[in-house]
Amino acid sequence: MRVGIAGLGTVGIGVVRLLEENRDILRQHCPWPIEVTAVSARDRRKNRAVDLSKYDWCDDPVALADHPKVDVVVEVIGGSGGVAKALIEKAIASGRHVVTANKALLAEHGTALARSAEQAGLALAYEAAVAGGIPIIKAMREGLAANRIEQVYGILNGTCNYILTQMRETGREFADVLQEAQHLGYAEADPSFDVDGIDAAHKLSILTGVAFGCEVDFAGIRISGIRNVSAMDIEYANELGYRIKLLGLSRLTERGIEQRVHACMVPQNALIAKVDGVYNAVVTHGNFVGQNVSIGRGAGQGPTASAVVSDLMDIARGRILPAFSAPAATLRKIPAAPEGSHVGPFYLRLMVVDRPGVIAEIAAIMRDEHVSMETMIQRARAPGDRVPVVLTTHETSQAQVSRVVNKLGSVSAVLEPPHVMSIEQLSRDSRKRRRWIGTWRSKWCA
Ligand SMILES: NC(=O)c1ccc[n+]([C@@H]2O[C@H](COP(=O)([O-])OP(=O)(O)OC[C@H]3O[C@@H](n4cnc5c(N)ncnc54)[C@H](OP(=O)(O)O)[C@@H]3O)[C@@H](O)[C@H]2O)c1
Repeated sequence: MRVGIAGLGTVGIGVVRLLEENRDILRQHCPWPIEVTAVSARDRRKNRAVDLSKYDWCDDPVALADHPKVDVVVEVIGGSGGVAKALIEKAIASGRHVVTANKALLAEHGTALARSAEQAGLALAYEAAVAGGIPIIKAMREGLAANRIEQVYGILNGTCNYILTQMRETGREFADVLQEAQHLGYAEADPSFDVDGIDAAHKLSILTGVAFGCEVDFAGIRISGIRNVSAMDIEYANELGYRIKLLGLSRLTERGIEQRVHACMVPQNALIAKVDGVYNAVVTHGNFVGQNVSIGRGAGQGPTASAVVSDLMDIARGRILPAFSAPAATLRKIPAAPEGSHVGPFYLRLMVVDRPGVIAEIAAIMRDEHVSMETMIQRARAPGDRVPVVLTTHETSQAQVSRVVNKLGSVSAVLEPPHVMSIEQLSRDSRKRRRWIGTWRSKWCA
């Protein structure tokens, strides 16, 4: 099987190295050898620490799409459009299977590309695009395929998980830890894609498509990152029995699909709370199999190359499945749940002037918005000075919490906008919820 690789950066070179170093293993598992025949990148003269002289070089990566010595195109350039999209579209039009690690492109154009690939009887494989070394796409499309997936969530960005872990372990603030992560190569010079939640949202949109057999809807995701997480929030989370994680969460609700990416609190005893450092984790709930947790490295040369090559092996073995598990022609368009409809407990941290009557004012606002308080912590007493007040609520809607936050803005003793975070009760997978899901499914899947 002849492979053309477009992009010779971290992932592309990893694929070249893996195919070379594990040649014997691949040969044993595949009916025929997988050989790189042609490559492309921007700069031909760049030293890439591997010998590329035996491969045809294409200055234009799109030329790999109909290269006479290429059966499968590996797109590892990146970007949600441009040359990566042109290459994949042309490869499919030219009858070449495609393997990509490009989550940004799939988040924007995944459904359309899956349709064209399936119409042409070709593979569009992208295991590396979601949680790198965790074979979650394969797990959902194959091992878990007999289940109705009820929800899927996970730690989908290793950079954020590393930063939050360091903040917890060292008590340092976000900016300080981010700088260190950049120095160590765990965060990009421009970290916004990671720390603002975009990268995790790209992956979540793909997971949602596979989990619920629906069209990819990146625009329907509510996204925020970890810039506003402070050392103080992490300390309070600990005191309340939680850990702070950046999660991507996707659930089917009666009002549509709820897709969210944000920092949130998870119970300290939840498995996902213990996944630290650069590791990723993906949790699925299937109606027969129950909970399934996969943990592994989400990025890096080795894990990503491993995922790309496993896709190549599937193609070599003739295992060509619909990209999003269900055939693309059957993918449903399910609306995004309305903003503010998420229901659950919340954490609010306020900085207030310590003076009599402040707590009563806050409590009155919560009462008026029918938000019921579960816990309140006001540790220090410093009359006339700034003190933190931490509240957690019983189950309430995001919309109600937003109204409380707006009203708190007009309380003179509240000195800055409250820090708000949802508390995710991850094990809330009761039989009652399953019954609801049954009803919602018949609504969206009719
Ligand atoms: N890195 C990871 O751990 C990881 C994990 C999961 C998914 N991914 C995805 O994998 C893809 C590649 O990531 P990466 O980290 O390998 O990126 P990278 O190290 O920046 O490499 C990108 C490669 O694409 C080439 N390239 C860029 N623009 C090009 C153009 N217009 N024409 C031809 N070649 C071009 C670059 O050429 P030059 O080398 O000549 O500049 C480079 O070789 C992205 O979609 C990324 O999201 C990466």
